[in-house]
Amino acid sequence: MTAVADAAPTPAPSPADSDLVRAARGLPVRRTPVWFMRQAGRSLPEYRALRAGTRMLDACQDPDLVTEITLQPVRRHGVDAAILFSDIVLPLVVAGVDIDIKPGVGPVIASPVRSVADVDALPPLEPDRLAFLATAVRRLVAELGPTPLIGFAGAPFTLATYLIEGGPSKEHARTKAFMYAEPEAWGRLLDRLAVSAATFLTTQVDAGASAVQLFDSWAGVLSAADYAERVLPHSRAVLDALGDRDVPKVHFGVGTGELLPLIGDAGADVVGVDWRVPLDEAARRVGPGRSLQGNLDPAVLLADRATVDREVRRVVAQGRAARGHVFNLGHGVLPDTDPGVLTSVVDLVHELTSR
Ligand code: CP3
Repeated sequence: MTAVADAAPTPAPSPADSDLVRAARGLPVRRTPVWFMRQAGRSLPEYRALRAGTRMLDACQDPDLVTEITLQPVRRHGVDAAILFSDIVLPLVVAGVDIDIKPGVGPVIASPVRSVADVDALPPLEPDRLAFLATAVRRLVAELGPTPLIGFAGAPFTLATYLIEGGPSKEHARTKAFMYAEPEAWGRLLDRLAVSAATFLTTQVDAGASAVQLFDSWAGVLSAADYAERVLPHSRAVLDALGDRDVPKVHFGVGTGELLPLIGDAGADVVGVDWRVPLDEAARRVGPGRSLQGNLDPAVLLADRATVDREVRRVVAQGRAARGHVFNLGHGVLPDTDPGVLTSVVDLVHELTSR
């Protein structure tokens, strides 16, 4: 075969050598990898069609649906990674906690955790109940070929906010009150959540996921001192539990500008950044030795094309300050987003960064 000088970049031969994994490790890439948090979901008509008539938490436990929904954004947008279709509350649901995901609201817990006795009554997650998850991951890895699959779990703090508040919350006041008033039970609760998150993550990696992301979405409501003392050790325990499994780890939260150095310290290769802190400044806060993921404001995608174009160029330029850059949004895709705009962002990032 003759090599063609101006041929398109050769696709990665394996997920372990993909641009996503390479950027996460700070290695040279063919072009900056792109994926979107919540890329599978309501912005896609094909998702809405497939989900019709199935409850969210049932869909997450059906390997056929999980596989198809996870693949949809990869096919449509040409993103550089798939993220498993699931939810952060799934380990709790599988363990037997009564939770529903209400459309437009989020996870709602039938009996919130409000006392020390409630903490001790939480059922553990039995690993053998995760066979559906391993099946879905194995199938996905076979279908995806060179495209890496990102496995994920919710971090102990963010899961604790749902359990204690009983549902979504802005201030997370009950959570903080419990953290201050019952420090021992708080530690036990987060220990237990760390064990189930670790089980959920290791199941995905052992079935073939090429990277993992720990979502501590609401950690930004904490001061750095409280985060360092009462939360970080538990998140570190989750990432440590991956042991010598050789997959890069992404650690993400919203509003974590003041926590960025600590989020990195918990053991991640990549720190996920929301839109509030520009990536060049985030690179300074995180320090050397870690890559960055982010951080286009998802609301920008609802604006005109010229604004989207300008903001994508800015994020790409500022991302060059990082050891490695995985292009993403600063938080999840908003349901009203035009999927065509998402595809054009993927194309633009690739065009701007192709070597
Ligand atoms: O990113 C992806 O495409 C993978 C799938 C994914 C979902 N949830 C699917 C989902 C991931 C990674 C999550 C994680 C998750 N779930 C987080 C962390 C990420 C973040 O956004 O900060 C959180 C906080 C949750 C809890 C949760 N579940 C919320 C807030 C919601 C949205 C409620 C709503 O309807 O607006 C959910 C439900 C959910 N999880 C949906 C999807 C596609 C929508 C459910 C539907 O389609 O009916």
